[in-house]
This record gives sequence, structure tokens and C-alpha cells, in this order.
Amino acid sequence: MIVLGIETSCDETSAAIVKDGRTILSNVVHTQAEHTPYGGVVPEIASRCHIMLLPGIIKQAMEEAKLSWNEIDAIAATRGPGLASSLLVGWSTAKGLARKLNKPLIAINHIEAHVHSVFLNPSAPDPHEALPMLALAVSGGHSSLFKIQEYGKLELIGRTVDDAAGEALDKAAKLLKLGYPGGPIIDKLGRTTPPRKNIFPEGRVREGTETGGLNHELCMSFSGLKTSLLHYVTHTPPTCDADVAQIASDYQEAVVNAIVKRCDKALVGMKYLAVGGGVSLNSRLREKLMELCDKRKVQLLLALPKHCGDNAAMIAGLAGMGRGITGEEAFALDIAPSWQP
Ligand code: KG4
Ligand code: ZN
Repeated sequence: MIVLGIETSCDETSAAIVKDGRTILSNVVHTQAEHTPYGGVVPEIASRCHIMLLPGIIKQAMEEAKLSWNEIDAIAATRGPGLASSLLVGWSTAKGLARKLNKPLIAINHIEAHVHSVFLNPSAPDPHEALPMLALAVSGGHSSLFKIQEYGKLELIGRTVDDAAGEALDKAAKLLKLGYPGGPIIDKLGRTTPPRKNIFPEGRVREGTETGGLNHELCMSFSGLKTSLLHYVTHTPPTCDADVAQIASDYQEAVVNAIVKRCDKALVGMKYLAVGGGVSLNSRLREKLMELCDKRKVQLLLALPKHCGDNAAMIAGLAGMGRGITGEEAFALDIAPSWQP
């Protein structure tokens, strides 16, 4: 099955063609640079860019795959979660294309697609056999933990109760005047100096906090961390680049520890740990997850760096695995900005 996938949930405009869920024939990803001066994604600008760029990006994906339209079996797109005005562009385009070409339309969940991104690595095992699996999706928009006992059945067991991990890194970088997006900058600074112990709080979620019925010990909170960074720099302002790098390293450690500790707790009975999303590019997180999986004798499945951020290959791939909503029902669906897997 050959699927054309479209991804426009945030600020990446992407189209890809994937065969049988895992073989990438093309994957064109454009990251919008227009948001950099604002220190965050501006929804109106993002949707306008998607409208202007998407047709050309789809055309490029088709050309790179060297396919004609009659060789495409289905059209898949991200239906949610994400920014409403951004989702609308990709989802309406997919609907229009599928109707015009008389092909099936497939609605894909963006978070489940991040989990599938680990299987775009040719050396990963068969997704139906990588079970039981703990899956971590960490990005600028979400930080969620799922238990997967049966392929396609994601049971949410933990999540952030406020900011996402990537958002926490982006906000810290803004506060430290480092630029946007902050995750990669903090990662780079973190590599220049080891973190000090316990400078920033780990972001525990207290018992009694509203977690939607989830175990509070598997949930994360990053908003207090940002506040403690603000206090720290107010009382101990950095005086040189080395001070800033040290603070960045300490802060990154708190974010990474919060994630790794939740994984450690949730790994009981699991054979695999799959990690996807933009933050899974973080070198300190990768290092600590490798240590954890070695210790727990669990196989770590990391997405290839080029598939960690938002991309349409993970959308087309997941659709090619038979996941998502399809049939006439799909055409009646609207975008779903808060859609959980
Ligand atoms: O998956 P993604 O491209 O988009 C969302 O679905 O949100 O993730 C973007 C997030 C941003 O917050 C960015 O700062 C973060 O991923 N990120 C990183 C790194 N590269 C990107 N965070 C930590 N370390 C990195 N190397
Ligand atoms: Zn994402």
C-alpha cells in the first residue's frame, strides 16, 4: 500500500510517500523560519505559510518518489492534535485531493504518528512484535507516556499536567535570551558543561492534582521549573556566557530527569521503550534513556534524528499500517485540535 501523507499540525509543512508503513519513497519537510523573531509559533503566520507552501511540497514529494497519481493508494493527513488553523490546511487539502482522485482518505493522530516514527528506522523490529512497549512522545506540544500491550492500542498512563517538555526548554531559552527554538540551543550548551545537582526542581506532580485519573507519579509538571528559573536568574544573574551555559545545563538536567524517572517507573513488565518527538533529539535525554534501558534490559527504540521532529513520513507510515480513521466516515470528520490517541 502506497500512501501520500500530509503533516501541517504546527510549523512544519510536510508531505511524504511511504510504502507499506515503513519504506520511505520521499519525505519533504519544510520548517517555517518566519516564527524565529517572535520566539514562538504565531498561528496566523503558520497557517498562511502552510497554504502557500503545501501544494509545491506535495508536488515535490511526488516527483522525488517518481510516482504518478494513479500509483497512490490512499491520502492520509494529521487531523489532530495541533494548532486548529494549521491542521485545517493539511486536512482540507487531503480531503480535496482524496475526493478529486477518488482515493481513500485516512485521518491520523499526530501523537500516535510520533510513536510510529521509531519504526521508520529500517533496523527497528516489526511493530506488531515490539510488545509490550512503553511509548514516550515528547515534543513542543506534548509529553505523554503510553503502554502498548497490543499493536494499535495506546493506553495513556502519564502526561504533563501543564507545559510540554519542549515548551519548557523553549521558554527557558527565551528567558535566557538564547533564541528560538530553544531545545537544540540548550542541548548544545548542555554538552559544554556537566550539570550541577539539584539546582532546579524535578517537577513532581503532587497527589490530589487533577490528572484526569492518571497515576500522579507518572505525570510531569514543567511550569514550576520555569518559575524557579526566573527566580534563579533574578537572584543570581549570569555574568558571562559560561554562567548561561551552566544554567542551561542544570535546567536541561531537571527536564531530562523528570522524563527519565517517569519512564523508569512505567517500564515494569515492558520489553521495549519507543521514544519520538522533537525533544527525543536531545543528546542528554538519549544518553540517560540508553543507561536506563541497559539497566532494565529493555530494548530502546529511538526515532532516527531526521524523523524526530514533525514530518509527514510518520503520518503516511502509520496510515500504511492500517491505523487511522478511513472510509466515508473520514470525509465527514473535522480537524480535532485536542485529539488524543
Ligand atoms: O516534534 P516537534 O518538531 O513539534 C511538535 O510536535 O511540537 O518538536 C519541537 C520541539 C521544540 O520544543 C524544540 O525546542 C524541541 O522539540 N527540540 C529539542 C531538540 N530539538 C528540538 N529539545 C531538546 N533538544 C533538542 N536537541
Ligand atoms: Zn509533533
